Parts: sequence; structure tokens; C-alpha cells
Amino acid sequence: MSANLKYLSLGILVFQTTSLVLTMRYSRTLKEEGPRYLSSTAVVVAELLKIMACILLVYKESKCSLRALNRVLHDEILNKPMETLKLAIPSGIYTLQNNLLYVALSNLDAATYQVTYQLKILTTALFSVSMLSKKLGVYQWLSLVILMTGVAFVQWPSDSQLDSKELSAGSQFVGLMAVLTACFSSGFAGVYFEKILKETKQSVWIRNIQLGFFGSIFGLMGVYIYDGELVSKNGFFQGYNRLTWIVVVLQALGGLVIAAVIKYADNILKGFATSLSIILSTLISYFWLQDFVPTSPYCNMKDWVGQVQWFIPVILTL
Ligand code: C5P
Repeated sequence: MSANLKYLSLGILVFQTTSLVLTMRYSRTLKEEGPRYLSSTAVVVAELLKIMACILLVYKESKCSLRALNRVLHDEILNKPMETLKLAIPSGIYTLQNNLLYVALSNLDAATYQVTYQLKILTTALFSVSMLSKKLGVYQWLSLVILMTGVAFVQWPSDSQLDSKELSAGSQFVGLMAVLTACFSSGFAGVYFEKILKETKQSVWIRNIQLGFFGSIFGLMGVYIYDGELVSKNGFFQGYNRLTWIVVVLQALGGLVIAAVIKYADNILKGFATSLSIILSTLISYFWLQDFVPTSPYCNMKDWVGQVQWFIPVILTL
């Protein structure tokens, strides 16, 4: 049962990551009339959706009794303020990370973003070893080294990038810094959440409500600081369309699936599952969005080697 849940949650995660990254990139680059949606508000809406979904799950766990639901929420959240407060740390970090993700995808193509973000597998491994005392075998360390080489491969400036350096270097740099910071926050927050989840008995959905509660507060602070003026001028939901809602729902779904993966598998496996989605994103980004276009034979080979080599660490680790 638990092995089934492990592979089911990992499979859904591959689907969710691929669709989120492509839809988010598409929604941030689509040229439309009127104001574009504010990513800071999208982060808050996703948190609120996640809380609602988790409350429904706890309600189901409480045998669909409103009274039992009320009691669980009271006992586990309100009456344990110190336990609840523990979640403020990963939540603050995730909020920063979720905002960085939009910055990255507004400045980098979907495939480059995905590949670079895989460095989080390394940061996650390092945090797992130091915070959870996990032991990694030789093959696992080897696969991490291959992973890093791949990132360097893809990030190495190509002929075409050097030609267009003046045009895009600034935004590439911003995008890259955003992803690199997100790699560290992802590793730390994920392992911290895993530690809390595996060292205490509380339900994963209760933990997610606590996480989402702080996430919404931090997210609203972000809206106020970065987009306060725009929100007071054009409203909180300015620029929202059907695509924006799909992004927001996918992001909320991601929170639920990731929580399940951390519970039934672990953060390192989660990292490798998401790296499988790179292959999918790359293919779709190339064939459908025409977003990732190799421009010379050298660049062509370099980019594809960079993408395909991801199979090696995934296979070595499984
Ligand atoms: O890239 P990474 O795997 O670190 O992304 C984790 C994402 O999952 C973040 O967007 C975070 O907000 C979300 N998350 C969540 N609930 C959890 C754990 C992570 O919503 N319990």
C-alpha cells in the first residue's frame, strides 16, 4: 500500500511539475491586452486553495463530521501554538521561493530554468545528510556529480548567447540568480519539512494547513510590499484569466502532491522525479512553445546533450 502510494505520488509529481512550468512560462510571456496578472497575488491564491483542499482532506479523515473536523483543527492547530509556529520557517522560505520562481520564468526559457533548477537535488542531498543524517552511496554521490556537470554544460554561454549578450544578459543573470537562490531554499525547506513530518505524529494535511496559514500571511506581505500600489489601482485579481487560474490550481496541487511525496518517499527521490519532467518540458518547450530553439550545430548538440544526460543520474539513483 505504502509502496503504491510512493510511486503514485511520484508519478503525479512528474505530471504536475511539467504542466506547471510550461503553463507558468506561457502565462508570463503571453502578449495580451490589459495588465498582466500579478505573480505575488497568484502565490497567495495558491496558498488559500491549498488550505481549502487540506481542510477537505482532514474533514474526510474525520469521517465527514464537522464537529470532529472542528475539534481536530482546534486541538492540533490552535491549542499547539509552538508546534504551529515551527512551520513558519519553511513557509517563509517557500513563499520567497515561489516568488523567485516567477522571476526566473519571466527571464529564462522553460527548459533552461528546469535544468538549472535541478541543482536543488544537490542542495537537498547536502541538507538531508547534514540535517537528517542520511547516508548516500557511491552511486548516489556519483549521480549528483553528473547532475552538476549537466547544469554547467547547459549554462555555458553558447555562440548565439554571446551574440545577443547585450540584449538579454541582464535578464538572464536575474533569472539565473533567482533560480540559484531557489535551489538553496528548496533544499533547506524541503528537508526541514521532512524532519518535522517524520519526527512528529501529526497528519501531513494538518502540517500543510499550518504551512499554508503562514504562507498566506507572508504572501500577503509580499503583495503589499511589491504590488501594493498596483493592487489598490487595478484590484487584487487584475489580469486573471483562465490560464492564470490553471497556473494557480496547478501550484496548489503541487503543494499537496509534494507533501505526499515527502511523507511516502523522501526529498531526494522527489528531486529525481521532478528531473524526469525536464525531458518532458524540454520536448514540449521545443515542439510546442518554440521557446527553446537550438541555433547552431554546436549549440544544438550541447543543449540536447545537456538535456538527455539527465537520464544518467536518474537511472543510477533508482
Ligand atoms: O521546488 P520545490 O520542490 O522545492 O518546490 C516545493 C513547492 O511545494 C513550493 O512551491 C512549496 O510552496 C510547495 N510545498 C507545499 N506544501 C508542502 C511542501 C512544499 O505547498 N508541504
